[in-house]
Amino acid sequence: MSSFIFVNSQNRLPLVTESGKKFSGLEHSKSPELCQRVSAFFEYLDGQIGFPETDLGRENQFTFNLLLQSVYPEIMIDLADLIYVQHERPAVYLNFDHIHMNLKKDGMAFSESMDQINEKFSILFQELAKVIRESPILFSDSRMVGLLSESYSIYLFQTENFPWDNPMEMIPSDLKNPIMDVATGLAGFRLIHDWPDDYPKLILTDNLPFIIMGLTHYAKLSGKTNVEILNIDFPDGPKGECYGCILANKFLHHLQRDERKKFLQWAIEALDVGGLLLILDTDLECQILRRAQNREYQDKLMRGYKETLVEIEENFCETLIQDVRHVGFDVSHFDFHEYQDETDAYSQYPGDNLSIKFIGLEIMASKV
Ligand SMILES: C[S@@+](CC[C@H](N)C(=O)[O-])C[C@H]1O[C@@H](n2cnc3c(N)ncnc32)[C@H](O)[C@@H]1O
Repeated sequence: MSSFIFVNSQNRLPLVTESGKKFSGLEHSKSPELCQRVSAFFEYLDGQIGFPETDLGRENQFTFNLLLQSVYPEIMIDLADLIYVQHERPAVYLNFDHIHMNLKKDGMAFSESMDQINEKFSILFQELAKVIRESPILFSDSRMVGLLSESYSIYLFQTENFPWDNPMEMIPSDLKNPIMDVATGLAGFRLIHDWPDDYPKLILTDNLPFIIMGLTHYAKLSGKTNVEILNIDFPDGPKGECYGCILANKFLHHLQRDERKKFLQWAIEALDVGGLLLILDTDLECQILRRAQNREYQDKLMRGYKETLVEIEENFCETLIQDVRHVGFDVSHFDFHEYQDETDAYSQYPGDNLSIKFIGLEIMASKV
């Protein structure tokens, strides 16, 4: 493990001390299910990592446990976003207002300024997420994936706070046969929530265990019986079932062109005659990567974000529509627009806008 702050050596200071274990910020929460997972997560992590036995290690241990003591239940959402889906929510900051309210309730007073303490909390929290993200063992530890994904599911079930576009807008209303959402990601939560009981089966797929476990948990909570969750690593799709519609939203730019062609071949075989393939996508990532060749632009990007982006060919939009037609689809709708965005969504510094030009496209194609 390469971190100056956290270590996994045998001789280490515990991650969680008696003061952290109090988790006083979780008291009186409206979501005991979420709180129980916060304490279980950090107590489990305590068995995996801790702090070096140095003066700095002791200082970090103290500050980290102050953070645990004052932590709020939604910390699990912030952590999960940073570890598994940074792509979807690049800018994650601790909720300092909540933390300080909890510290005040505990009667804590400090010699340092609030800004200084916040800065220390931030560094520890970001480093913790980085250590987990970059350790293959911690990243795929099934207990940790389970606790974080269940927290996501519980939070969304209880709050219905779905910050994503409404994928139902794309779904034809007269479907008779099953529909598959390819690489559904976090959007799958809202699809499950909105999926009518009298619609055909909805099959949600992804290749990230965090997404699969979270959606499976959420589908159970929702009680929906016409939803199935499958762990599929595309471009090789499942064989056997026929679909009335296949959705591929913001996914195909994850595949290189040869894999994309393979995916399209699978899709045309898997659809019923008359079945629809719906694609929404952008070349946004590729454009950010291109701009990030400029050092100044790269330095302004949110730390760790560039590493999540996939390089694809320059003329993605043209090659995609060509390939859709080439495998035999009948394209009934193809639209694309160039967008110019000024946003701090990918910026390391809130308020420091980065400009980006990209193409967004929509394709509706049917199997004839
Ligand atoms: C940008 S998200 C798109 C999510 C969603 N479809 C939407 O419109 O918001 C991409 C998703 O693709 C998944 N993914 C990436 N590569 C994949 C692959 N080869 N097979 C299946 N899923 C994949 C990721 O885990 C992630 O959840």
